[in-house]
Amino acid sequence: MQYISIAIDGPAGAGKSTVAKQVAECLHLMYIDTGAMYRAVTWKLLQAGVSLEDNSTIGEIVQDLDIRLSDENGRLRVLVDGQDVTQDIRSPEVTRLVSHVSRFRQVRDRLVALQRQYAKQQAVVMDGRDIGSNVLPDAKVKIFLTASIEERAERRVAELQNKGYAITIDEVRQELVKRDQMDMEREIAPLRQASDAQVVDTTNKTIEEVVKQILTIYYDATATV
Ligand code: DC
Repeated sequence: MQYISIAIDGPAGAGKSTVAKQVAECLHLMYIDTGAMYRAVTWKLLQAGVSLEDNSTIGEIVQDLDIRLSDENGRLRVLVDGQDVTQDIRSPEVTRLVSHVSRFRQVRDRLVALQRQYAKQQAVVMDGRDIGSNVLPDAKVKIFLTASIEERAERRVAELQNKGYAITIDEVRQELVKRDQMDMEREIAPLRQASDAQVVDTTNKTIEEVVKQILTIYYDATATV
Protein backbone atom coordinates (compact mmCIF):
# COMPACT_ATOMS: atom_id res chain seq x y z
CA MET A 1 0.00 0.00 0.00
CA GLN A 2 1.25 3.47 -0.81
CA TYR A 3 1.32 5.85 2.15
CA ILE A 4 -0.25 9.23 1.56
CA SER A 5 -0.37 12.33 3.70
CA ILE A 6 -3.44 13.60 5.52
CA ALA A 7 -4.15 17.31 5.96
CA ILE A 8 -6.47 18.25 8.83
CA ASP A 9 -7.66 21.84 9.22
CA GLY A 10 -10.34 23.53 11.26
CA PRO A 11 -11.15 26.12 13.92
CA ALA A 12 -9.61 26.17 17.40
CA GLY A 13 -10.75 23.47 19.77
CA ALA A 14 -12.40 21.22 17.18
CA GLY A 15 -10.24 18.32 18.40
CA LYS A 16 -7.68 18.39 15.57
CA SER A 17 -4.59 17.47 17.54
CA THR A 18 -6.18 14.68 19.58
CA VAL A 19 -7.67 13.11 16.49
CA ALA A 20 -4.68 13.72 14.21
CA LYS A 21 -2.32 12.13 16.72
CA GLN A 22 -4.42 8.98 16.97
CA VAL A 23 -4.87 8.72 13.20
CA ALA A 24 -1.10 9.04 12.81
CA GLU A 25 -0.52 6.30 15.38
CA CYS A 26 -2.96 3.93 13.66
CA LEU A 27 -1.29 4.46 10.29
CA HIS A 28 2.31 4.69 11.59
CA LEU A 29 2.68 8.13 10.06
CA MET A 30 4.48 11.08 11.58
CA TYR A 31 2.22 13.63 13.27
CA ILE A 32 3.01 17.29 12.67
CA ASP A 33 1.18 19.81 14.88
CA THR A 34 1.68 23.07 13.00
CA GLY A 35 -0.19 25.06 15.66
CA ALA A 36 2.58 24.01 18.07
CA MET A 37 5.11 25.56 15.70
CA TYR A 38 3.29 28.94 15.67
CA ARG A 39 3.00 28.68 19.45
CA ALA A 40 6.75 27.97 19.70
CA VAL A 41 7.56 31.16 17.77
CA THR A 42 5.15 33.13 19.97
CA TRP A 43 6.78 31.70 23.12
CA LYS A 44 10.22 32.70 21.84
CA LEU A 45 9.13 36.27 21.04
CA LEU A 46 7.64 36.64 24.51
CA GLN A 47 10.82 35.27 26.10
CA ALA A 48 12.94 37.65 24.06
CA GLY A 49 10.68 40.56 25.03
CA VAL A 50 10.24 41.61 21.40
CA SER A 51 7.46 44.06 20.60
CA LEU A 52 4.87 42.34 18.43
CA GLU A 53 4.90 45.44 16.21
CA ASP A 54 8.62 45.06 15.48
CA ASN A 55 8.47 43.34 12.10
CA SER A 56 12.16 43.29 11.36
CA THR A 57 13.30 41.86 14.73
CA ILE A 58 10.57 39.21 14.51
CA GLY A 59 11.84 38.34 11.03
CA GLU A 60 15.42 37.98 12.27
CA ILE A 61 14.48 35.86 15.28
CA VAL A 62 12.25 33.49 13.35
CA GLN A 63 14.86 33.02 10.64
CA ASP A 64 17.44 31.71 13.13
CA LEU A 65 15.07 29.76 15.33
CA ASP A 66 15.64 26.02 15.69
CA ILE A 67 12.19 24.45 16.09
CA ARG A 68 11.93 20.70 16.38
CA LEU A 69 9.00 18.38 16.84
CA SER A 70 9.79 14.95 18.15
CA ASP A 71 7.78 11.94 19.16
CA GLU A 72 8.72 10.52 22.54
CA ASN A 73 6.80 7.32 23.27
CA GLY A 74 3.72 8.68 21.53
CA ARG A 75 4.02 12.09 23.21
CA LEU A 76 4.76 15.09 21.02
CA ARG A 77 7.63 17.22 22.29
CA VAL A 78 8.39 20.69 21.05
CA LEU A 79 11.95 21.99 21.28
CA VAL A 80 13.00 25.58 20.66
CA ASP A 81 16.75 26.05 20.39
CA GLY A 82 17.11 22.77 22.28
CA GLN A 83 14.79 23.77 25.14
CA ASP A 84 11.69 21.68 25.83
CA VAL A 85 8.71 24.08 25.63
CA THR A 86 5.98 21.44 25.24
CA GLN A 87 4.03 22.69 28.29
CA ASP A 88 4.88 26.39 28.06
CA ILE A 89 3.45 26.85 24.58
CA ARG A 90 -0.05 25.95 25.88
CA SER A 91 -0.14 28.82 28.39
CA PRO A 92 -3.04 31.31 28.15
CA GLU A 93 -0.54 34.08 27.33
CA VAL A 94 0.84 32.25 24.30
CA THR A 95 -2.71 31.29 23.28
CA ARG A 96 -3.82 34.92 23.45
CA LEU A 97 -1.02 36.16 21.18
CA VAL A 98 -0.45 33.30 18.74
CA SER A 99 -3.01 34.44 16.15
CA HIS A 100 -1.35 37.83 16.07
CA VAL A 101 2.11 36.33 15.57
CA SER A 102 0.90 33.93 12.89
CA ARG A 103 -0.14 36.86 10.67
CA PHE A 104 3.46 37.86 9.93
CA ARG A 105 4.74 36.86 6.51
CA GLN A 106 8.27 36.03 7.75
CA VAL A 107 6.83 33.73 10.40
CA ARG A 108 4.56 31.92 7.96
CA ASP A 109 7.22 31.64 5.24
CA ARG A 110 9.70 30.01 7.61
CA LEU A 111 7.22 27.63 9.23
CA VAL A 112 5.55 26.60 5.98
CA ALA A 113 9.00 25.77 4.54
CA LEU A 114 9.74 23.56 7.57
CA GLN A 115 6.34 21.89 7.32
CA ARG A 116 6.82 21.11 3.63
CA GLN A 117 10.26 19.73 4.42
CA TYR A 118 8.77 17.27 6.94
CA ALA A 119 6.16 16.16 4.42
CA LYS A 120 8.80 15.67 1.74
CA GLN A 121 10.73 13.21 3.89
CA GLN A 122 7.76 10.97 4.76
CA ALA A 123 3.99 10.72 4.65
CA VAL A 124 2.52 12.73 7.52
CA VAL A 125 -0.66 13.62 9.32
CA MET A 126 -0.44 17.39 9.56
CA ASP A 127 -2.97 19.59 11.33
CA GLY A 128 -3.44 23.36 11.30
CA ARG A 129 -5.41 26.07 9.55
CA ASP A 130 -3.93 26.24 6.03
CA ILE A 131 -2.62 22.72 5.44
CA GLY A 132 -5.06 21.56 2.76
CA SER A 133 -5.39 25.02 1.20
CA ASN A 134 -1.75 26.11 1.23
CA VAL A 135 0.95 23.92 2.82
CA LEU A 136 0.08 20.61 1.17
CA PRO A 137 -2.38 21.46 -1.63
CA ASP A 138 -1.69 18.07 -3.24
CA ALA A 139 -2.53 16.00 -0.16
CA LYS A 140 -4.81 13.17 -1.24
CA VAL A 141 -6.80 13.26 1.98
CA LYS A 142 -8.05 16.59 3.31
CA ILE A 143 -10.28 16.87 6.34
CA PHE A 144 -11.99 19.99 7.67
CA LEU A 145 -12.75 19.27 11.31
CA THR A 146 -15.47 21.31 13.01
CA ALA A 147 -17.62 21.28 16.14
CA SER A 148 -20.17 23.64 17.67
CA ILE A 149 -18.71 26.61 19.55
CA GLU A 150 -20.38 25.37 22.74
CA GLU A 151 -18.75 21.96 22.56
CA ARG A 152 -15.38 23.41 21.60
CA ALA A 153 -15.51 25.76 24.60
CA GLU A 154 -16.54 22.96 26.96
CA ARG A 155 -13.69 20.71 25.81
CA ARG A 156 -11.12 23.48 26.02
CA VAL A 157 -12.16 24.66 29.49
CA ALA A 158 -11.98 21.10 30.82
CA GLU A 159 -8.50 20.70 29.32
CA LEU A 160 -7.23 23.97 30.83
CA GLN A 161 -8.82 23.40 34.24
CA ASN A 162 -7.21 19.95 34.32
CA LYS A 163 -3.88 21.63 33.85
CA GLY A 164 -4.64 23.92 36.79
CA TYR A 165 -5.49 27.14 34.93
CA ALA A 166 -8.30 29.16 36.56
CA ILE A 167 -10.45 30.08 33.58
CA THR A 168 -14.19 30.23 32.95
CA ILE A 169 -16.17 28.86 30.02
CA ASP A 170 -17.17 32.41 29.01
CA GLU A 171 -13.52 33.46 28.79
CA VAL A 172 -12.66 30.39 26.76
CA ARG A 173 -15.63 30.88 24.40
CA GLN A 174 -14.64 34.51 23.81
CA GLU A 175 -11.03 33.53 23.19
CA LEU A 176 -12.01 30.84 20.65
CA VAL A 177 -14.33 33.17 18.73
CA LYS A 178 -11.71 35.92 18.63
CA ARG A 179 -8.94 33.56 17.54
CA ASP A 180 -11.08 31.99 14.78
CA GLN A 181 -11.99 35.45 13.52
CA MET A 182 -8.35 36.55 13.38
CA ASP A 183 -7.33 33.27 11.74
CA MET A 184 -10.08 33.57 9.10
CA GLU A 185 -9.52 37.24 8.39
CA ARG A 186 -5.74 37.35 8.10
CA GLU A 187 -4.29 38.30 4.76
CA ILE A 188 -1.87 35.41 4.26
CA ALA A 189 -3.17 31.83 4.11
CA PRO A 190 -6.26 32.33 6.30
CA LEU A 191 -8.18 29.49 7.93
CA ARG A 192 -10.25 28.12 5.11
CA GLN A 193 -11.83 24.86 4.06
CA ALA A 194 -10.03 23.60 0.96
CA SER A 195 -12.48 23.05 -1.90
CA ASP A 196 -11.62 19.34 -1.97
CA ALA A 197 -11.72 18.80 1.81
CA GLN A 198 -14.28 16.58 3.47
CA VAL A 199 -16.05 18.10 6.46
CA VAL A 200 -16.09 16.03 9.63
CA ASP A 201 -18.25 17.48 12.42
CA THR A 202 -17.10 16.21 15.81
CA THR A 203 -20.04 17.62 17.83
CA ASN A 204 -21.56 14.86 19.98
CA LYS A 205 -19.06 12.32 18.65
CA THR A 206 -16.44 10.40 20.59
CA ILE A 207 -12.79 10.61 19.64
CA GLU A 208 -12.95 6.95 18.54
CA GLU A 209 -15.87 7.67 16.19
CA VAL A 210 -14.06 10.59 14.58
CA VAL A 211 -10.79 8.66 14.20
CA LYS A 212 -12.70 5.80 12.60
CA GLN A 213 -14.45 8.17 10.18
CA ILE A 214 -11.12 9.68 9.09
CA LEU A 215 -9.52 6.25 8.70
CA THR A 216 -12.43 5.23 6.46
CA ILE A 217 -11.90 8.33 4.31
CA TYR A 218 -8.17 7.53 4.18
CA TYR A 219 -8.69 3.88 3.18
CA ASP A 220 -11.19 4.92 0.49
CA ALA A 221 -8.61 7.37 -0.90
CA THR A 222 -5.75 4.85 -0.83
CA ALA A 223 -7.90 2.27 -2.60
CA THR A 224 -8.11 4.60 -5.59
CA VAL A 225 -4.43 5.66 -5.65
O1 DC B 1 -3.96 24.57 16.61
P1 DC B 1 -3.58 25.63 17.65
O2 DC B 1 -4.78 26.13 18.41
O3 DC B 1 -2.50 25.17 18.56
O4 DC B 1 -2.99 26.84 16.79
C1 DC B 1 -2.56 28.03 17.39
C2 DC B 1 -2.62 29.18 16.41
O5 DC B 1 -1.61 29.05 15.44
C3 DC B 1 -3.91 29.38 15.64
O6 DC B 1 -4.85 30.14 16.35
C4 DC B 1 -3.45 30.07 14.39
C5 DC B 1 -2.03 29.61 14.20
N1 DC B 1 -1.92 28.60 13.15
C6 DC B 1 -1.82 29.05 11.86
O7 DC B 1 -1.90 30.24 11.62
N2 DC B 1 -1.63 28.16 10.84
C7 DC B 1 -1.55 26.86 11.08
N3 DC B 1 -1.33 26.01 10.06
C8 DC B 1 -1.65 26.37 12.40
C9 DC B 1 -1.87 27.28 13.43
